[in-house]
Amino acid sequence: MPIFDGLRPEAIDLAARRLADGGLVAFATETVYGLGARADDDAAVARIFEAKGRPPEHPLIVHVTGPEAARAFAARVSPAAERVMQKLWPGPVSVVLERRPGLAEAAAGGLPTVALRCPSHPVARALLRRAQEMGVAGVAAPSANRFGRVSPTRAEHVVAELGEALTVLDGGACNEGIESAIVDCTVSPPRLLRPGSLPRSMIEDALGQGVGHGDAGSPRVSGSLESHYAPQARVQLVASHELESRALQALSTQDPHALAVLARHRPALPAACGFRAMPDNAREAAHILFDTLRGFDAEERQVVLVERPPDDPDWDGVRDRLTRAAAPR
Ligand code: TXA
Ligand code: MG
Repeated sequence: MPIFDGLRPEAIDLAARRLADGGLVAFATETVYGLGARADDDAAVARIFEAKGRPPEHPLIVHVTGPEAARAFAARVSPAAERVMQKLWPGPVSVVLERRPGLAEAAAGGLPTVALRCPSHPVARALLRRAQEMGVAGVAAPSANRFGRVSPTRAEHVVAELGEALTVLDGGACNEGIESAIVDCTVSPPRLLRPGSLPRSMIEDALGQGVGHGDAGSPRVSGSLESHYAPQARVQLVASHELESRALQALSTQDPHALAVLARHRPALPAACGFRAMPDNAREAAHILFDTLRGFDAEERQVVLVERPPDDPDWDGVRDRLTRAAAPR
């Protein structure tokens, strides 16, 4: 059985041992499931890229037990990073810092910087702590999906993506549901390279200053490739008032079963069409987003119409993932 109950100490022990030995372990975090390897072992990290089919120059996030462990990987901790770590860790925010030369070279994709994150999920925390006791300073972990695909938010998703042979620490459905916000703290003011489920305003409150936007000159963020987080179905973002007409249009060429809608209200649709209610609240929407897209794939929907989320900054994370899911491949 590849899936272990991540709350059982024996499972944590076995998984931590596997990491210490240079193996791969998938584990629950509060954002999405991660595929981990010890960050200080380039050969172990190479196995992540291989399993995901991810280009090796894409940097990974290094997961640590807290600010103290983060310092081992950073050449310098800027005051802004210090504030984020003190106020928002453990939690769904990663910081980019100057990297300590010679450490986590492969995990950082050769960049002079490193992204660090301290997750709050009890399974991730137990694993990181136990692995640390075994000499693992940090665990490099991208989302546990094949490159470019929807991130997994349940243990079963990981198995569906990466196969039965992998050790998976089950921690239930991820609370946040989309990946961490990434804040580049190597520049002043810091820049938000990837929005997460935590509103930008909470990050700015913690920093005591506004954050800039990532731009084309920003370091490589694979989530910043246009087409990413893509399900098999074609995703289209549609304004609320156009949902009904776009659905009718789709039904003129598609079988009703091929169509699904994610919106606040179910438009008039044949019963065979799929529907899931979009929560009014951005954090709840993030929580169901990837699971819903995967569910539509499992039902073999071909076209998914999604109601365009509000312009409100709280929706930045969800809007970002949906825009990429809808980008042409
Ligand atoms: O919530 C999360 O962050 C999840 C869970 C597993 O913790 N992890 C995750 O990893 O989303 P991944 O590999 O799917 O995304 C990592 C992102 C990539 O977009 C990568 O380019 C960016 O972090 N990144 C890593 N190191 C960086 C660096 N030094 N500078 C800029 N971006 C970096
Ligand atoms: Mg990913």
